[in-house]
Amino acid sequence: MLRTHTCGELNISHLGQTVTLCGWVQKSRDLGGTTFIDVRDRYGLTQLIFNTDTDATLREKSRELGREFVIKVTGNVIERASKNTKIPTGEIEIVVTDIEVLNAAKLPPFLIEDETDGGEELRAKYRYLDLRRNPIRNNLVLRHKMAQEVRKYLDKLDFIEVETPVLIKSTPEGARDFVVPSRMNAGEFYALPQSPQTFKQLLMVSGFDRYFQIVKCFRDEDLRADRQPEFTQIDCELSFVSQEDILNIFEGLTRHLFKTVKGIDLGEVPRMLYSDAMRLYGSDKPDVRFGMEFVELNDIVKGKGFSIFDNAELVVGINAKGCASYTRKQVDELTEWLKRPQIGVTGMIYCRYNEDGTLKSSVDKFYNEDELTNWAAVFSAEKGDLMLILAGGADKVRKQLNELRLEMGSRLGLRDKNTFAPLWVVDFPLLEWDEESGRYHAMHHPFTSPKPEDINLLDTEPGAVRANAYDLVINGTEIGGGSIRIHDRGLQSLMFKHLGFSPEEAQKQFGFLMDAFEYGAPPHGGIAFGFDRLASIFAGLDSIRDVIAFPKNNSGRDVMIDSPSTIAEAQMTELKIKTTV
Ligand code: AMO
Repeated sequence: MLRTHTCGELNISHLGQTVTLCGWVQKSRDLGGTTFIDVRDRYGLTQLIFNTDTDATLREKSRELGREFVIKVTGNVIERASKNTKIPTGEIEIVVTDIEVLNAAKLPPFLIEDETDGGEELRAKYRYLDLRRNPIRNNLVLRHKMAQEVRKYLDKLDFIEVETPVLIKSTPEGARDFVVPSRMNAGEFYALPQSPQTFKQLLMVSGFDRYFQIVKCFRDEDLRADRQPEFTQIDCELSFVSQEDILNIFEGLTRHLFKTVKGIDLGEVPRMLYSDAMRLYGSDKPDVRFGMEFVELNDIVKGKGFSIFDNAELVVGINAKGCASYTRKQVDELTEWLKRPQIGVTGMIYCRYNEDGTLKSSVDKFYNEDELTNWAAVFSAEKGDLMLILAGGADKVRKQLNELRLEMGSRLGLRDKNTFAPLWVVDFPLLEWDEESGRYHAMHHPFTSPKPEDINLLDTEPGAVRANAYDLVINGTEIGGGSIRIHDRGLQSLMFKHLGFSPEEAQKQFGFLMDAFEYGAPPHGGIAFGFDRLASIFAGLDSIRDVIAFPKNNSGRDVMIDSPSTIAEAQMTELKIKTTV
């Protein structure tokens, strides 16, 4: 090795030793007689000192070192005169006896410091420099630790890591596929997996019993802070298990990760029915770090002449505790925020429970003090609280109130990044109506089994059929989802029929799976965690981008390598792809 130690390990116990370090020049300070240089590597920072006793040519050389030069230095470990207690190497420094520039460096386009002056675009273009910064590197170290602990936990429980192919045929998971043209099969395309769903089910048919894979998945969908076109799942499948077994094993995995990586005892993960999550939070991934549950008001507000409430399918509100002091301006600003097209409310009704005990609403014309007192009782409101109410179509208004609830949670400081509130959401509907295509879609995916007691509703009330499907939610983010699968050809065919597939289409797309079900398929089920999302929650980040070494931007571009890009005409011809020109 070129070095005897890393830049993060020397301390008082090494005094008097001659050491060789390699690393990058973090910064140098020339104080006339003495020059200090900080040399940095992945492990830390060590201070080098050149003083009047240092050889003159060496001192000259030290002055030529710029930021981010890669150097190799040899010297003696001495005790520092003024110690830095903030870093592990802060009690020592190295009196340099030899220095070698391994590589010079151009001045980096932004500061390689914890707090940098580089904007997002610039840092993305020079991602390899951004990755030198502690906060970003630490995220990847954290991610590595998590991956190791995932493997340890699952290996102990007899899960086998199997790699499934990346060039496959499309599996419908709700998003668009990325496709890859096949040179050898002109006009035909592979699809990149949106998940290894069908393969892991086939592994169950093969008798693997317990499978896992930390695996890249690809989805061509609109990007958000918690979505990347390529992302990683902790993908798992098990045979001969019930939903209960799966929830317990993966609750165990979640607890294991929190304990070993963050030192946090997570406790038991509560469970909530999907129907309750929608009713109480207007979301299938409620942030339960705080209460502020929905309060439905139809029974008490209708029939008093206020047409907005009278005509609404649902009148529903939240109690913003301690917000009665909001000024008219603040309430108006909140209403405007809700009126933005992304949320699209037409108006918000409010009722203040003033500190003096009086109640004042924005609809006083229609509701007297007694009625407002009744509102306050239903909201469990106290003096100082502010009731915020929306009205409209039930599904829409719940979604809107969910946004308002989350916003109020943020404004009131109730969404602390260091508080972790996990939750299983269970009993999802099997199907969901899609307005655009005018038919039902699988809410999870078409391989999810309906609850046996609901199968008879498939023909009459498809929307009411519940699935053996579950999601793990942490702090309002969907971390994972899974289900007990169909393992019977007849039921799988029935499912495809309800999803609008003709028997021929179903056979063409999924014949391989249904055929396999006829050769002794065990009952099975599984789950996949979004690894990037879990890592970003562990790292306390709002976006998954910084737990990914080389992420894409919001337009799905990698600005560093400039991808996607056009390909040469010759390549296109070879792939039998016609250009439109
Ligand atoms: P699902 O589609 O719910 O299930 O995906 C599992 C988890 O993957 C994460 N995830 C994403 N993370 C980042 N960027 C994305 N674009 C993205 N899309 C999804 C989420 C999600 O909960 N095959 C099934 C699992 C199963 O049934 O076993 C599946 O893929 O955290």
